[in-house]
Parts: sequence; C-alpha cells; structure tokens
Amino acid sequence: MFFPGILCGRQPDVAGRLIFGFSIFHEGSGYVRIPKITMEGFLERKNILCIGAGYVGGPTMAMIAYKCPQYKVTVVDINHEKIARWNSDDLPVYEPGLDEIIRATRGKNLFFETDIDKGIRESGIIFVGVNTPTKTFGAGAGKAADLQYWEKTARQIREASESPKIVVEKCTIPVKTALAMERILTSKDGSIRFDVLSNPEFLAEGTAIRDLEFPDRVLIGSRETPNGIEARKAIVDIYLNWVPREKIIESNIWSSELSKLVANAFLAQRISSINAISALCEKTEADIAEVSRAIGLDSRLGSKFLNASVGFGGSCFKKDILNLAYICRGYGLDDVADYWESVVGINEYQKERFILGILNAMFNTLAGKRICLFGFAFKADTGDTRETPAYTVARRLCEEKAELIITDPKALDNARIDLQDTDGITYEPDPYKAARGCDAIAVMTEWKLYTELDYERIYDSMSKPAFIFDGRNIMDHRRLHEIGFNVYPIGKRPLVHFT
Ligand code: UDX
Ligand code: ADP
Repeated sequence: MFFPGILCGRQPDVAGRLIFGFSIFHEGSGYVRIPKITMEGFLERKNILCIGAGYVGGPTMAMIAYKCPQYKVTVVDINHEKIARWNSDDLPVYEPGLDEIIRATRGKNLFFETDIDKGIRESGIIFVGVNTPTKTFGAGAGKAADLQYWEKTARQIREASESPKIVVEKCTIPVKTALAMERILTSKDGSIRFDVLSNPEFLAEGTAIRDLEFPDRVLIGSRETPNGIEARKAIVDIYLNWVPREKIIESNIWSSELSKLVANAFLAQRISSINAISALCEKTEADIAEVSRAIGLDSRLGSKFLNASVGFGGSCFKKDILNLAYICRGYGLDDVADYWESVVGINEYQKERFILGILNAMFNTLAGKRICLFGFAFKADTGDTRETPAYTVARRLCEEKAELIITDPKALDNARIDLQDTDGITYEPDPYKAARGCDAIAVMTEWKLYTELDYERIYDSMSKPAFIFDGRNIMDHRRLHEIGFNVYPIGKRPLVHFT
C-alpha cells in the first residue's frame, strides 16, 4: 500500500545542471514526476524582485532586505521619477522609520531600478505590487478593481522570463485573480514553470514599518499541489528570518486572496458602525467616547477601530469593500453585496453630516467665511491623501463659497494636486498662520501636533465667534470651550457660548 508522500532529492538533468527534484508517491497511482527547478532557478530564488515601488512595494521590500541580508532585493517601477526618488534622500513615501531602513540597505542588498525585464530575468521570486484602483469605466465602473496594470505586469513577466518564477500577489486583488494570472503566464508555450502565490499586505500607512517588523500574521496562500506547496515554502523561508513560525499562516490561495478584502471590510465596518452610533449620540446626549469605551472593553469586541470620525479614507477600505460587493453580486449574492455597500454608504453619510453640521452651526451660510482645515491626509503620520474625507469636506465647503486655508505637516503637496481644479484655496504649512483671521477650524486629520498648539494664541488671532469642528475627537473640548471657542465634536454634545 502506498501513502502520499514527498521525496526530495538532487540529480543532474540531461544538460548536467543540478536539479532539485521532487518525486511524489500517490496511493494507487504509483510514482508521479512533477516539474523541477534547476540549480540556476534555485539560486535565482535568492534574488527577489518587486514590480511596483509604491506604498506597499517600497516599505515591504525594504524590510525584507533589512531582515534578510542573504537575499538581493530589487524594486522596479514604470515611473522613473519615483525610482529616482527612492534612490535619493527625498523618498516618495513618508513613513516613520523608513529612512533608517533604506539607509541601512540601499546599495547593499536593496536596489531601486527601472529595467523591469532585466529584473524579471534575474529573479526567481517576483512580488507584484502594482496599483489596482477601482475601475472608472465600462462594466463594473466605480466598483470592480481595475486590473489593467496588474495584467500588463503578468504579460511582461511571461515575455521576459527565461527560467522558473514564483510570482507573488502583494497587491489587493479580487478573489480568483491568481487563476487569471496563471492562465496568462502559461499561455505562451508552457515550457517555464510559474507558481502563483498570494501574500497579501496588511500594513497600515503611518505604522508600516512596525506592522512589517512585528506583523500580527503573515498570510501565504498557494495552490495545494506539490509545486504550490514547495513554492509556498520558499516564501515562508523569507519571513522566517524575522517572523515567528506560529505567525506565518499558510492557506489555499483563494482563502488568502479573499482574507485581504475581508480584513479591510471588517475594519471599515467597525468604523461605520461606531460612526452610525455617533449620529444617535448627538440626538440622545449619550457620549460616543463613553459608548466606545464601554463596548470596547468587551473582550469579544476589543477596543481598536472604534474611534468615531468624520469618516474613513485611504486607498484600501472603500475600494476593497466595493470590490467585495461587486464579486458577491457576480455570484448572485445581492443581499450580501447590499450589506457591505452599506458600510461605504454610512461613510458618505458621515462626511455629509459633518459638512451640514458646520453649515448649521455657522448660521446656515458659509459664503465668504474663512475656514481652516487642520490636516488633509487621510490619517496621521502619512502624506497620503487618497480617499481622504478632507477632500470631500474641502470641495463641499468651496461649493458653499467658503474661503479655505489648508494646513498639514506632510500632505500639502498632495492636497494641491488633488484640489488643483478648485479655486479659492490657500495652502499654509504653519497652523498658526493658517488659522489667523479664520472664522472656524475643522480638524480633519488626527495629527498629534494639533493637540499641542497654543489655542489661546490661535483664538486671539481668529474672527469671533470662533468655531472648532473636531472631525477626529482628538482635542480637549472643555479647555477649548473655556478659551472661548464654540466646540463641535463628533457624537458628543457641542460646547457653545450661545444661549
Ligand atoms: C488599512 C488597513 O488597516 C491595512 O491593514 C490594509 O493593509 C490597508 O488598509 P490604512 O488605509 O493605511 O490601512 O489605514 P487605517 O489605519 O486602517 O485607517 C483607515 C481610515 O480609517 C483612516 O482614515 C483612519 O483615520 C480611519 N479610522 C481608523 C477611523 O476613522 N477610526 C478608527 O477607529 C480607525
Ligand atoms: P500601493 O498603495 O498598492 O502600493 P501605489 O499606487 O502606491 O499603490 O503603487 C503602485 C506602483 O505600481 C506605482 O508606483 C505604479 O507606477 C507602479 N506600476 C503600475 N503599473 C506598473 C507596471 N506595469 N510595471 C511596473 N510598475 C507599475
């Protein structure tokens, strides 16, 4: 009787190259040979390539290079200017702690280059970290993931490859994308072995380096074939250089792809849930911070992602939920799709509620009033402004003919680009200068520095009555009220001086 098992061995192939082979015994079917990788292929597995030098690719590869000096890591991008910035002191991504890691590895075992074909030829492991934004045209516009960059990459890998490759999906993609990737890769002549794996990134911007160094888990999914499992091991081996074994989870490739979308959907759902309750708090004199604390101490719920806010932003949440809902609809699961879309619906509602709150508090007219936005990034410790609620607020306040002054320690360049079509906005890095002469401050980003400013000085420099709308609930509301501000938090009673 045969038991399923794997024998691993080395033998020369016809050309005399060393082959690292697997021989599989299957019950009943005897001895089955499966594709092998050559010594060259094996050595190439010490060369890692990442296609896409963005928020995910750059920091992730920097951490791999930092923790794995025995690997050579190359990052490529079609955007040559971005590569030039990765090779300069002015990195294209702001992340606390990233500079140090880049300094320690760049030019040693971490390289930023523009020749993508060469990178593909020389590497045995290829991470794909290109962008997969929401489609803006055609079928699924506004919902489905736009896979054009991703597919272009798959074709380029196929064309440039001369030896076996492990291709790892790093970017967030719809479940079952690996199947399409496999089809593209093997559609030429099938002579080269490609193993497609999923290793989704769970890093959050602003804490990327910590998330990469001490991840809650690393998820690696592959086909559950001998080849897939062998390729999976090559990726596990990379992470084992610094991640404890028990935190490295292996799964089938579809679970891995889907888990990324689901993790983001669950996180966003918590924020929409607490934001929905913030509206009820404002009607009932309950206090959202107290409610949040009370429910967060339930160990079944936990305390994270329960901060009410003007709304969630970032490149992932909205995109991934809409994509999840689109996939559900594709399988005829309309009720499930409706459920997840409502998470995005509440987020839109929360932003609109915040804007109407400003309008309402400021006597139903904003025309000619000066409003200062404290923060434009979608969250603190990043210069990223993708899907930032501050953008929606800025556009809507301009529609009401308010004069806007935007300040942010890291995101002003992006703010200028995002709002280039909108007139009447001033950009000012110094918050004191930004607030001078304003009627209101709206706190859009939870930058710590905004909690540490001299608000007596700011109040004295502003028009009266002076308003603060705290879209992040980070300020000392009682203290601001004592200074003279009319204070409007989220999900709490406003503190005003009017009777
Ligand atoms: C998210 C996921 O956290 C990360 O795992 C995934 O890989 C990418 O998407 P990111 O978009 O960088 O990361 O930011 P995150 O920290 O999740 O915050 C998203 C948004 O939610 C921000 O706008 C943030 O301000 C907001 N937020 C977060 C709240 O409004 N309340 C909270 O309690 C937490
Ligand atoms: P993420 O947040 O997922 O990292 P980014 O937009 O920050 O997304 O980064 C994705 C990167 O992928 C961009 O720098 C973009 O230029 C790059 N990119 C897109 N398509 C290709 C491609 N075909 N080849 C190489 N790089 C690409």
